Amino acid sequence: MQETRVDQRTKTQRAIALEEKYGAHNYHPLPVVLDSGKGVFVWDVEGKRYYDFLSAYSAINQGHCHPRLVKVMQEQAARMTLTSRAFYNSVLGEYAQVLCETFGYEKMLPMNTGAEAVETALKMARKWGYEKKGIPKDQAKIIVCEGNFHGRTISIVSMSTDPDSQGGFGPFTPGFEVIPYDDLGAALEKHFADPNVCAFLVEPIQGEKGVFTPAEDYIPHAIALCKAKKVLFIADEIQTGIARTGRMLCSVPDDERDQAKRPDVVILAKALSGGMYPVSAVLADHDIMDVFTRERTAVPMAATRWARSWQWRRWRS
Ligand SMILES: Cc1ncc(COP(=O)(O)O)c(C=O)c1O
Repeated sequence: MQETRVDQRTKTQRAIALEEKYGAHNYHPLPVVLDSGKGVFVWDVEGKRYYDFLSAYSAINQGHCHPRLVKVMQEQAARMTLTSRAFYNSVLGEYAQVLCETFGYEKMLPMNTGAEAVETALKMARKWGYEKKGIPKDQAKIIVCEGNFHGRTISIVSMSTDPDSQGGFGPFTPGFEVIPYDDLGAALEKHFADPNVCAFLVEPIQGEKGVFTPAEDYIPHAIALCKAKKVLFIADEIQTGIARTGRMLCSVPDDERDQAKRPDVVILAKALSGGMYPVSAVLADHDIMDVFTRERTAVPMAATRWARSWQWRRWRS
C-alpha cells in the first residue's frame, strides 16, 4: 500500500520555507506571513490580526485596501492599463496638475520606484549644476548625510555609509560627499563653499537608520543655507511625505508657499499610489526641471501607468 505523506507544517512554516527556497535572500523578514489587510489591520495566514504600524515603510499611508482606491483601480484596469509615451494620456496631465498644486511646485516628473526618482533628482541636480551654476564638466558634487537611505541602485549605494549596502558591489559612482546628519556646523559650511557642489540630498527624518528626527531648525536652516550658496536642496520625502508625519511634506508646512523656505526639489514615492504599485515623482520648479529635454529622460512605463493619475484624482475627491 502506498504511504501518503502529510505535511505537518503550519501555513506559516510552509510559506516561509517556499520563500527561503526560491526567493533571493536579500531581506530578513519577521516570521509572520501576511495574507490580507484592511485599513490599519493585517491578518496572517493563521488568522491572527495585527495593527500595521509600519504601513509598508509608508507606502500604505491610506490604509490597506482603501475601498476608493480599490474601486478606481478595478475600473481603470478594465478600461486601459498602459499607454506609452509615444502618445498623450487622458489622465496624466490632470495627475501632474494635482501633484504640482498639492505640493506647491511648477513641474513634476513621474517615475516608478523611489530609487529611480532619487536617481532622476541626482541627474537633474548635476545637469542644473553644469548648465545653471557653471560647474566644469563632470566635476559636480552632491552632499549627502551619514546614515542616509535613498535606495539600492549602484549610484545610490555609492553614497551610503552602511557597509551592508556597499559590500561586494563596487566600483562605486563618484561625486558624492558625506557629512554628519543633523549638523549645521563646519562640514556643511565647508562643502557649501565649494563651487562645484550642486546639491544637498537629505531625508527630513532618517528612516532606515532607526527613525532619527533632527533638531527642529535643522531642515529650515539647511534650506536657507542652500539658497544662499546656490546649492539645490533636495528633500527625499519618500518615507516622510504624504501625511506620514501629519502634513503633506515633512520638510515644510502645508501652507508655506515662499520658495525661499521650501526645498528646491522634492522626491515622492510609495503612498502616491496607496501602495497599489510602484510609483514615484520628482517635483521642482521650471528653472530646475527644464534642464531635462524631451529625449533624455523618458521612462516608458513610468510616465504612463494609468492608475497613478486616476487613483490620485479619486483619492483626493
Ligand atoms: C527615504 C527613502 N528613499 C528612497 C527609498 C527607495 O525607494 P524604493 O524602495 O521604492 O526604490 C526608500 C525606501 O524605503 C526610502 O525610505
